[in-house]
Amino acid sequence: METLTSLAEARACLDAWRARQERIALVPTMGNLHAGHLGLVARARELGGRVVVTLFVNPLQFSPGEDFAAYPRTFEEDQHQLRQAHVDLLFAPAVDEVYPQGPESQTRVEVPGLSDVLCGASRPGHFVGVATLVCKLFNMVQPHWAVFGEKDLQQLLVIRRMVVDLCFPIRIVGVATVREADGLALSSRNAYLSPAERRRAPVLFQSLRQAAEAYQAGTGVSEVERSGSESLRAAGFLPDYFRVCRSADLGAAVPQDRDLVVLAAAYLGKARLIDNLRFRC
Ligand code: PAF
Repeated sequence: METLTSLAEARACLDAWRARQERIALVPTMGNLHAGHLGLVARARELGGRVVVTLFVNPLQFSPGEDFAAYPRTFEEDQHQLRQAHVDLLFAPAVDEVYPQGPESQTRVEVPGLSDVLCGASRPGHFVGVATLVCKLFNMVQPHWAVFGEKDLQQLLVIRRMVVDLCFPIRIVGVATVREADGLALSSRNAYLSPAERRRAPVLFQSLRQAAEAYQAGTGVSEVERSGSESLRAAGFLPDYFRVCRSADLGAAVPQDRDLVVLAAAYLGKARLIDNLRFRC
């Protein structure tokens, strides 16, 4: 596995592969890799071309006061895991390489509507930061495929929309959420949980399952959302949102909708956890 930090060197390596008609799968990450990320890498491997992982903690997607400085950085361990997973190129640029004029002066990419609800409503500017960075990575790497996790479903939908709107010739591949045995979705932010919080954390996924079952049994949206938030609060979470939506565009669910998703975000101590569960009606 090559590890490169300079865009010029990464481009030289990628250009050589493209000149040999090799195809390229990109897995963007912020590092601190866990089995969920390795699942994305495994899916990228299955696609059959070269696998490029980017590791970059993107300042543009963190609001002031969020955990940009504290975000876990574990470069050596990440590099070791990616080598074991037979990744071809690890591209880990510094902030100056990605944002030479500084993040604040960077041209932005905005996917309106989808970016403004749910996590976008609570974290203003977050999805502009994600879309801008992912757009730059797509231009830097020019992959044939890009692989993202379904745990960040809203992010996945924002990126799918951006790819259509900006005519990127890239196939976006979604990968199912990887969970601990007790249902907790894997996330780098789980590291912020104390042992007592970790024991309570599976309530997030349990509340999503109960909500999907209640909706399928005929309970109305507002009652499902109210009782979902209530069960989180009872377990010591501070809920941010708990919503039943259409899974195609995250619009509010109406009775005619068949393909649905229940999504929640909630603080448990210092950790802001998100999760979602798709279901049919
Ligand atoms: O999902 C993430 O880890 C990040 O939001 C991403 C897609 C790598 C962009 O920084």
